[in-house]
Amino acid sequence: MHKMLYTLPDQLETERLILRPYRAGDGAAYYAVCQRNREHLLPFEAGNPALDVYTLEQAEILMRHFAAEWAARNALFLGAWEKISGSFAAQIYVGPVDWELPEFEIGYFVDVAHQGQGYVTEAVKAVLGWLFGDMGAHRVRLGCNEVNERSWRVAERCGFVREGHLRQTRKQVLREDGTYSGDYLYGLLRSEFENMNR
Ligand SMILES: CC(C)(COP(=O)(O)OP(=O)(O)OC[C@H]1O[C@@H](n2cnc3c(N)ncnc32)[C@H](O)[C@@H]1OP(=O)(O)O)[C@@H](O)C(=O)NCCC(=O)NCCS
Repeated sequence: MHKMLYTLPDQLETERLILRPYRAGDGAAYYAVCQRNREHLLPFEAGNPALDVYTLEQAEILMRHFAAEWAARNALFLGAWEKISGSFAAQIYVGPVDWELPEFEIGYFVDVAHQGQGYVTEAVKAVLGWLFGDMGAHRVRLGCNEVNERSWRVAERCGFVREGHLRQTRKQVLREDGTYSGDYLYGLLRSEFENMNR
């Protein structure tokens, strides 16, 4: 189906979170997110757009850019906000890989103050429900550094299958034995998701 024919949700809800696309006016909150997560994101998310934000204005521009990308279905960024406090807890990125299959890619980070509370797993499970539901996904993929154990544990908790291991792709991140680290590739098929949720 053509990407513009998909109806995208205003929000997704889980037990503890509201996930929604960013919008104009989110800049001030996102500016604070960018400032406090800089060091947290650097090791494994060096290319994350949040790291290019140094001013309130840049944060607001990024929010409007994400909103435009959402509307164009080019890149689907969702902020996950704690229901109880309204504070930012995590971000989930959904990238279209192939609209015809369809296949999507998932990426994420948790706010440093909200790490270790199960928020990302909760959010990813909700996003998978949406992708394999209304979006009709056949496959969802996810990639992470092999040293990023917290990340591949999220993937495995959500049922992803390790499909590949690209060896020694990262010079900046070393394994315990001092060699360059690599990347794990994960995938989840519609049939596997349906079996898990039966
Ligand atoms: C990767 C990353 C998102 C993982 O975050 P996380 O907080 O560990 O993941 P979750 O939110 O799913 O939380 C899981 C942890 O919360 C714990 N937890 C606490 N309360 C919980 C609850 N009520 N429900 C479920 N889990 C809970 C779980 O036991 C688990 O801890 P464990 O891994 O020590 O067993 C985070 O480390 C991060 O943002 N890193 C920097 C950016 C990054 O690397 N992104 C990924 C790039 S591929």
